Amino acid sequence: MVKIVRLYVKDMDSLVELVLRVDPSCARSANFREWPDRFSRGIKTWGIINKGKLVATGSLSYYNIPGVAMKIPDFQVAVLDNGFVHPDFRGRGYHKALIIIRVINALWEGIYKIHSMTETGNIASIKNLEKMRFNNVDTQEIDYCRTYIFEFSSKFLINLFKVINKFRVFLLDIAFAGQGS
Ligand SMILES: CC(C)(COP(=O)(O)OP(=O)(O)OC[C@H]1O[C@@H](n2cnc3c(N)ncnc32)[C@H](O)[C@@H]1OP(=O)(O)O)[C@@H](O)C(=O)NCCC(=O)NCCS
Repeated sequence: MVKIVRLYVKDMDSLVELVLRVDPSCARSANFREWPDRFSRGIKTWGIINKGKLVATGSLSYYNIPGVAMKIPDFQVAVLDNGFVHPDFRGRGYHKALIIIRVINALWEGIYKIHSMTETGNIASIKNLEKMRFNNVDTQEIDYCRTYIFEFSSKFLINLFKVINKFRVFLLDIAFAGQGS
C-alpha cells in the first residue's frame, strides 16, 4: 500500500535513512542536522510510504532558512524544498504528488506565491516542476550553484483558492458574529 503522510520529528530516523541513500553529502551537512529544528519552526514535511518504508519526501517552508542564501523577496512566499525520492522508487510520480500536496497546502493557507529552486542541471526536478505548472522566473547563484527559481503559475488554482478562502473567512465571520459583544 502507498500513502502520503505528514512527517514529524519522530520520523527523523527514517528521513535520515532516506536522505543518506539519495544524497549522502546532504545528509551529512550542517543544514541537514538542523532538520529536527525545522519541525518546530513551522516547516511542514510530507513523505510517501510504500509498504511501510519512507521512500520520498518534500518540505514546505515559509521563510528563509538560516544558512541558506535564498533571496526570497518577502515572507509571504511558500518554498517547496528538500524533495527526495529513493532511487528504486523513481518514475512513479511520487515527486509530482508531493509537489501537489505542498501547493494545495500553501494555497489553503492563503499563500499564493509559491517558489521552488533547482540546480540548472537537475532535469528530473525541472521536468516535474514544469509539469506541475511552475514557470522559471529567475536564475541565481545559490551556494555556488547555478539555480533556477520556479514560481507556481496556475491562475486557475490560485483564483479558485482565493475564492474558497474568502468564503471560509465569510463563514467564520458569520459563525462568530456577535460573540465578541
Ligand atoms: C528529482 C527527483 C525527486 C525526481 O524523482 P521522480 O519524480 O521519481 O523522477 P523521474 O525519474 O520520474 O523523473 C521525472 C521526469 O524527468 C525525466 N528525466 C529524469 N532524468 C532525466 C534525464 N537525465 N534526462 C531527461 N529526462 C530525465 C523522467 O523521464 C521523467 O519524465 P516524465 O515525467 O516525462 O516521465 C529525484 O530524481 C531525486 O530524488 N533526485 C535527487 C534529489 C534532488 O535532486 N531533489 C530535487 C532538489 S530540487
